[in-house]
Amino acid sequence: MAGLVPAIHVFMVAILQDVDARDKRGHDDCKAERQIMPRLAGKTAIVTGGAKGIGRHYSQALAAEGARVMIADIADGRELAEEIAGRHGANSVASLKFDVSDEKAVKNLVAQTIDRFGQIDVLVNNAAYYATLKPRNFNEWDTDTWDRVMAINVRGPYLMVRHVAPHMMARRSGKIINIASGAAYKGVPRMLPYVTSKGAMLAFTRSLSRELGEYGIAVNSLSPGYILSDTGLENATHVEEERVPVRNSRAFKRDAYPEDLLGALLFLASSDSDFVTGQSLVVDGGSVNN
Ligand SMILES: NC(=O)c1ccc[n+]([C@@H]2O[C@H](COP(=O)([O-])OP(=O)(O)OC[C@H]3O[C@@H](n4cnc5c(N)ncnc54)[C@H](O)[C@@H]3O)[C@@H](O)[C@H]2O)c1
Repeated sequence: MAGLVPAIHVFMVAILQDVDARDKRGHDDCKAERQIMPRLAGKTAIVTGGAKGIGRHYSQALAAEGARVMIADIADGRELAEEIAGRHGANSVASLKFDVSDEKAVKNLVAQTIDRFGQIDVLVNNAAYYATLKPRNFNEWDTDTWDRVMAINVRGPYLMVRHVAPHMMARRSGKIINIASGAAYKGVPRMLPYVTSKGAMLAFTRSLSRELGEYGIAVNSLSPGYILSDTGLENATHVEEERVPVRNSRAFKRDAYPEDLLGALLFLASSDSDFVTGQSLVVDGGSVNN
């Protein structure tokens, strides 16, 4: 009996070493496969507001993961498209200037994307009236600004879904990612129409996911915390009012950058999240406890 114990020990160590080696081999195989087959190979993504700010990083990350990307922005995306084409090939990207609040422009964008790439697999509803919006008290908002925020941040994503979803429904698959904001959870002051519009994105996501589930389309939202995007940094009032308090409110006490969002975006865009829908993923270093 006494001799049996060391023998069992040797046997168990051998088994565990074998399992370890297999795990490592599996891991290496996976990594190798990932290098050969990026997660979004053969997929087409539209990124609204994809030319500037955080959206620019989304466009680059989706292309790097193998997607063909339509950069759709009110700003000119041609320079970014050339940069992506230089890195990933001429057929990896296109760009179109459009206003997301204008239904005719949205219809045209969708038609041009289908013309060029034949399908739409991922929609990133990222365009928003945000970085250029000057914070003010609740009673200082004029109704034109209020309506413009709602037109871009709420009507825009709806119009995109209205015209993109039929293409996804026909193929019974798709990923819709609505960019919301940690500000909607926290009720950040002095940005009332913006915060209201982002709260709408959370509810929009939940309701839409229930209508599109039967077509195999996932609808989720991604809520960034305060991010130091290049466009965001141009708004001195935001920087002054947000940067330090937000950093101090986080579990990870540091500033956040567009790169911090890319893992979550690619997760929601790829088959890694195939059984996830109707959810809001907050990526803010642990400021909001969702
Ligand atoms: N930066 C942050 O701290 C932060 C935090 C939470 C959520 N967000 C959200 O992330 C997204 C990107 O934010 P950002 O920091 O890059 O700010 P941003 O204001 O620079 O990004 C908006 C993008 O949308 C485009 N756009 C504006 N109006 C448009 C219109 N009518 N039609 C088409 N495109 C239009 C802009 O040109 C820009 O590329 C937004 O949805 C924003 O609400 C940002």
